[in-house]
Amino acid sequence: MAETKSKILFIGGTGYIGKFIVVASAKAGHETFALVRESTLSDPAKAQIIDDFKSHGVKLVHGDLYDHQSLVNAIKQVDVVISTVGHGQLHDQDKIIAAIKEAGNVKRFLPSEFGNDVDRVHAVEPAKSAFEIKAKIRRAIEAEGIPYTYVSSNYFAGYFLPTLAQPGVTAPPRDKVVILGDGNPKAVFNNEADIGTYTIRAVDDPRTLNKILYIKPPGNIYSFNELVALWEKKIGKTLEKEYIPEEQVLKSIQESPVPINVILSINHSVFVKGDHTNFEIEPSFGVEASELYPDVKYTTVDEYLNQFV
Ligand SMILES: NC(=O)c1ccc[n+]([C@@H]2O[C@H](COP(=O)([O-])OP(=O)(O)OC[C@H]3O[C@@H](n4cnc5c(N)ncnc54)[C@H](OP(=O)(O)O)[C@@H]3O)[C@@H](O)[C@H]2O)c1
Repeated sequence: MAETKSKILFIGGTGYIGKFIVVASAKAGHETFALVRESTLSDPAKAQIIDDFKSHGVKLVHGDLYDHQSLVNAIKQVDVVISTVGHGQLHDQDKIIAAIKEAGNVKRFLPSEFGNDVDRVHAVEPAKSAFEIKAKIRRAIEAEGIPYTYVSSNYFAGYFLPTLAQPGVTAPPRDKVVILGDGNPKAVFNNEADIGTYTIRAVDDPRTLNKILYIKPPGNIYSFNELVALWEKKIGKTLEKEYIPEEQVLKSIQESPVPINVILSINHSVFVKGDHTNFEIEPSFGVEASELYPDVKYTTVDEYLNQFV
């Protein structure tokens, strides 16, 4: 099969996860475009990301999610659209769907997902509504007949491993650890650059067309108890463990302000309900990234934690 490298447009490419996928795209040899707002180009906080994009040959296209014509013009230049917009814009991805319909040339759309499989979650509010927004965008894509891949990347390693999911700390704990539930459900923690690599591999792969791509490499699947045991082994010390029963977790979700309640309710879905791993991936709806791309050398949780010892 002759290799085709699609041209890819990113919307939200300068965001937390977006920048890793943009760079992975450029490194893999895809002609890569990033839609950026004028205000982002002059934002000193974004200068390093923009410079990095330029050094990788990423083409910057001026535009805005809320400027329909800018979306259509940008989309017409590419084959594939990847959205990595953040929480506040998830709902407005219907604007991308409308622009893709009008442009009429898109071979694949990857909406902003990069977390739990939102069709298979057991979440309470406020996570429940946040997941429902992504599920609603899925249904809109399917209703319009737009070819898609949904990337279920599970947890970003950088969000959870540097603190072992402990609130208000800047390093993994060395004395005491708080564990939601009984610590037995398995979760998945993926290095952000690897999420970029796997996502880009999927873009032109017929096996991921109209499927959910789960990023669940075997070396990154850990229960909380296993994660703590691994950390204890690395630092040569046993931690005091405080287990929070589910009823108490639910109560503190209700009593916590935004965004603590959001984080807690997502952690409840993952660490208490086991939503990263409590279902089988059926070939009818999904494929697993490390099985499709066994040559990708991903960073394991074990390797990742070494930097904090
Ligand atoms: N699995 C996990 O552990 C995990 C953790 C966090 C997030 N996520 C998911 O990852 C996805 C991306 O989240 P994130 O936190 O990476 O996003 P983010 O950092 O908030 O980035 C949002 C991006 O959207 C851009 N944007 C905002 N308004 C825009 C507009 N009007 N027009 C065009 N672009 C606009 C921002 O541009 P500027 O750079 O100019 O602001 C930025 O590039 C979400 O689906 C989120 O739920 C998953």
